[in-house]
Amino acid sequence: MLEVRDLTKRFGDNVVLDRLNFDIGNNEFVSIVGHSGCGKSTLLNCLAGLESFEGSASVAGQQVVPGRVSCGVVFQDYALFPWLTVEQNVRFGLRFTVTRNSRREMSERVEALLAMMDLSDFRGLYPRQLSGGMRQRVAIARSLIIDPPVLLMDEPFASLDALTRRRLGSELLNIWKTTKKVIILVTHSASEAVLLSDRVMILHGGRVRHVEHIDVPRPRTLSQKIIGEKIDFVERTLADLQTEKKSGLE
Ligand SMILES: Nc1ncnc2c1ncn2[C@@H]1O[C@H](COP(=O)(O)OP(=O)(O)OP(=O)(O)O)[C@@H](O)[C@H]1O
Ligand SMILES: [Mg+2]
Repeated sequence: MLEVRDLTKRFGDNVVLDRLNFDIGNNEFVSIVGHSGCGKSTLLNCLAGLESFEGSASVAGQQVVPGRVSCGVVFQDYALFPWLTVEQNVRFGLRFTVTRNSRREMSERVEALLAMMDLSDFRGLYPRQLSGGMRQRVAIARSLIIDPPVLLMDEPFASLDALTRRRLGSELLNIWKTTKKVIILVTHSASEAVLLSDRVMILHGGRVRHVEHIDVPRPRTLSQKIIGEKIDFVERTLADLQTEKKSGLE
């Protein structure tokens, strides 16, 4: 579904991503973790077609070309339009697509997404009238409106409280199960990554330094021994890489 070959991104002399290679299969849920500044957002932006890069990436057999958006994207700060209502924000994603579908089909899709994200009753409200969790649900609904094969999420739950975060995490799993999309989630939380994903990719120094497979059936809980061990492992690996980075600077 997603193929990345020698993907390299430089900002001037700063090589942020250094010949990344990986594949993501159909309906896989992959998390990306790594220290601040290691290039997680840059990687998502490249895959989303929002940044140019060297090397290649393809989504569902189509080359990723800067300027052509082929993935759904959800950002940490929601990026909703304050002057549009919930419904208008969700509908907005359709503007970018050349639609073959009829207006009625589109309206049905908007309705279905509003219902799926529990937003039907709030369709007429503006973003400022919503809680953070609701805003992020609007952003997720909007990203799904074009029915992208891949959903890219850059710390979507970072500014939410723990309870909302957990609830949205399990909603995300439901969406993933019902829509069979590929989800790539950037998170700073090792526990979120381990609880939700099939694979956790640890990014460091512009490279994928480790991939941890989480072959544990869902639903998963923090009380499962294997889950606790996986979280510890990811956290320890991140701490070791941090130490490596510090000693490298000396
Ligand atoms: N537009 C830009 N121009 C120049 N440098 C950039 C640009 N965007 C990102 N960078 C640099 O690329 C590196 C990676 O940034 P990026 O935002 O991808 O990190 P991140 O892993 O998402 O960090 P965080 O966890 O803090 O969100 C940083 O060194 C940053 O300064
Ligand atoms: Mg980032």
